[in-house]
Amino acid sequence: MGAVAIDCTLGQAGHARQILERITPGGRLLGIDRDPSAVDAARKTLASFGDSVTVVHGRFSELGAMAIDKGFSPADLVLFDFGLSSNQVDDPKRGFSFRAEGPLDMRMDPGSKLTAATIVNEYDPVQIERILRDYGEERWSHRIAEFIVARRPLRTTRDLAQAVEAAIPRRAWPRDIHVATRTFQGVRIAVNDELGEIEAGLRAALSTLKPGGRMATISFHSLEDRLVKSFFNVESKDCICPPQQPVCTCGHRATLRIVTRHPVRPSDHEVAANPRARSARLRVAEKI
Ligand SMILES: C[S@@+](CC[C@H](N)C(=O)[O-])C[C@H]1O[C@@H](n2cnc3c(N)ncnc32)[C@H](O)[C@@H]1O
Repeated sequence: MGAVAIDCTLGQAGHARQILERITPGGRLLGIDRDPSAVDAARKTLASFGDSVTVVHGRFSELGAMAIDKGFSPADLVLFDFGLSSNQVDDPKRGFSFRAEGPLDMRMDPGSKLTAATIVNEYDPVQIERILRDYGEERWSHRIAEFIVARRPLRTTRDLAQAVEAAIPRRAWPRDIHVATRTFQGVRIAVNDELGEIEAGLRAALSTLKPGGRMATISFHSLEDRLVKSFFNVESKDCICPPQQPVCTCGHRATLRIVTRHPVRPSDHEVAANPRARSARLRVAEKI
C-alpha cells in the first residue's frame, strides 16, 4: 500500500506536487486550503495525478473530520506550511500588503465574516492594542491603536500603513522591515484566527496520524514556531507535572517523538533563490 499524505496548506500546490511525485503510484494525497481560489487552482495543477489526489476547501482545524470523511485517516504524513501564499500577498485586492493600495480585507477565505476593516474601524482601542501587541509583537501598539481610532474610518491598506507611519516616530522605524509590517501581521492573524487554527490543527494532526506517521510544520514567524515547539515538547513527554512535584499525578504519556531537535532552516543557496523563505523553520515529529 502506498503512503497516505495530507497537505493542510495547499497554496500553489508546490509541496503537494513534490509529495505526489514521491508517493505515486500507490499513494494518495488529501489537499486542504481555506482559500477557494487556491483550491480551484490546485485542482487544475494536480489534475494529472487523477484519483491519487483529493482537494477540499476548508480549515485545517477541521482536519480530523475531513480526513475521516474523505478516507485519509489514519495518515502517514501531515504537512503544514503556515501563513500566506505569494498569490495572496501579491494580489492588492486581498488587502494583505502595505506596499499596494487595496481594501482592508485580509481574509484568507473571502467567505468568512471578519475583515480587517471591522477590526480597525469597529474594535475598541484596547482590543486593537492587544491584537497589535500579542499577534504583531509591536512595541508601539498603544500609540498605533490611538492613531487608528483617531483616523476612522480607514478605507484602504494605505490608510492603515499611514496611521502606523504617523504613530511611530521616524527615529524608531525598524531598519530591516517596513514600519507597518508588525501591524499588518497582527491584524491578519486576528482576522484569520491563525494561532487558534494552528493549535487545533496540530491536535487534529496528532489524532489523524498512524503510529510511526510524521507531521511536518513550516513556520514563518516566532509566534507560529513557538506554538509548534511547545506542542511538540509537551506531547513528547511522559509527564508534564510541575518539576517541584515529587510524584507524577498527570498521567500524561508521550505521543510524539521529536525528529528535528532544532528547527531546520533554509540554506543560503535556497534563500538566494527564494528570498521569502528566509525566515522559514521546519520541524518534524513522529507519532509514537
Ligand atoms: C504558505 S502557503 C502554502 C504554500 C504551499 N505549501 C505551496 O507549496 O504552494 C499557505 C496556504 O495555507 C492556507 N491556509 C492558511 N491557514 C489555513 C487554515 N487554517 N486552513 C486551511 N488552509 C490554510 C492559505 O490560504 C495558503 O494558501
